[in-house]
Amino acid sequence: MNAQLEALLRQMPKAELHMHIEGSLEPELIFRLAERNHVKLAHGSVEALRRAYAFTDLQSFLDIYYAGASVLLKAEDFFDMAWAYFERAAADNVVHTEIFFDPQTHTERGVPIAVVIEGLEHACRRAHAEFGLSAKLILCFLRHLSEEAAVATLEEALPHRKHFIGVGLDSSERGNPPEKFARVFARCRELGLHVVAHAGEEGPPEYIRSALDVLKVERIDHGVRCVDDPALVARLAKERMPLTVCPLSNVKLCVFKTMAEHNLPALLDAGLCVTVNSDDPAYFGGYINQNFVETFAALPQLGASHALVLARNSFEASFAAAAEKAAWGKELEATASRLGFGSGGGG
Ligand code: ADE
Ligand code: ZN
Repeated sequence: MNAQLEALLRQMPKAELHMHIEGSLEPELIFRLAERNHVKLAHGSVEALRRAYAFTDLQSFLDIYYAGASVLLKAEDFFDMAWAYFERAAADNVVHTEIFFDPQTHTERGVPIAVVIEGLEHACRRAHAEFGLSAKLILCFLRHLSEEAAVATLEEALPHRKHFIGVGLDSSERGNPPEKFARVFARCRELGLHVVAHAGEEGPPEYIRSALDVLKVERIDHGVRCVDDPALVARLAKERMPLTVCPLSNVKLCVFKTMAEHNLPALLDAGLCVTVNSDDPAYFGGYINQNFVETFAALPQLGASHALVLARNSFEASFAAAAEKAAWGKELEATASRLGFGSGGGG
């Protein structure tokens, strides 16, 4: 890839809309927190743990990801994890991020939800103060657990309502269709929460349809399998329904064999509001700029105009206020001109 395009990918302001904060826990921090909290780990060293990051599908990753999260016990642990991510995100010119957290992973181990939210929210406030990085929280329900468990989690979270902007649905997709969570999502919508869901990562296009029709989501997380259903692709384009795509994740979890086979160019060609995100950067080989650079390097049909569309889409698809979106859009155009890409972006 030419240096000018790489500079644009790295320097352009962008929003990250699909990042699980527990998936930003680097092995070094896992070991540091394990020692601080006297938690025994299954792997003896950072290197042994990293070697275990050879995934064959989503479930093989989730097993290791939930084990990694077992070192998080106190508010300061959640703060340290989120702060480390915000430092990386700011370095990648992320100006806005809507991060997922999985409270049930922690409450099931006896960690109160107040502790989880307190630590994360403190880091969000500091990221805004120190980096001007706007950071919001989205509470995810684990779809391998029951809807009753999701309802109980929502009730526990409601005293902290002002600290999260929406809810999502993650964990094992196959066999856990969106409609399993119809009632809890209806309640969340009544409460004025934003709603998103993982769908069409490993699961079929029908799960994307039921996320839209039953859960009435405002964004689809992943959604790459929509291409198996051309009528669905047309609908997603017409409704400008955002897809938060995570290229390195898709390759690591064998959704695509290689980056060169990723369908991001096809999704862009179909006119979809796609965005690029890191999903679980500590596990999948990189943060957002690494995702941009590796994707564009493997897919030479992607150029500066696509980069700018992806950045604009990330602002459009965010839950930020219109005035903020407009300001980030201006910053983007200024960065593009500074790097020699006129408005519209060129090749
Ligand atoms: N939780 C963390 N990362 C996830 C992913 N890629 N899919 C579903 N659940 C997740
Ligand atoms: Zn995800």
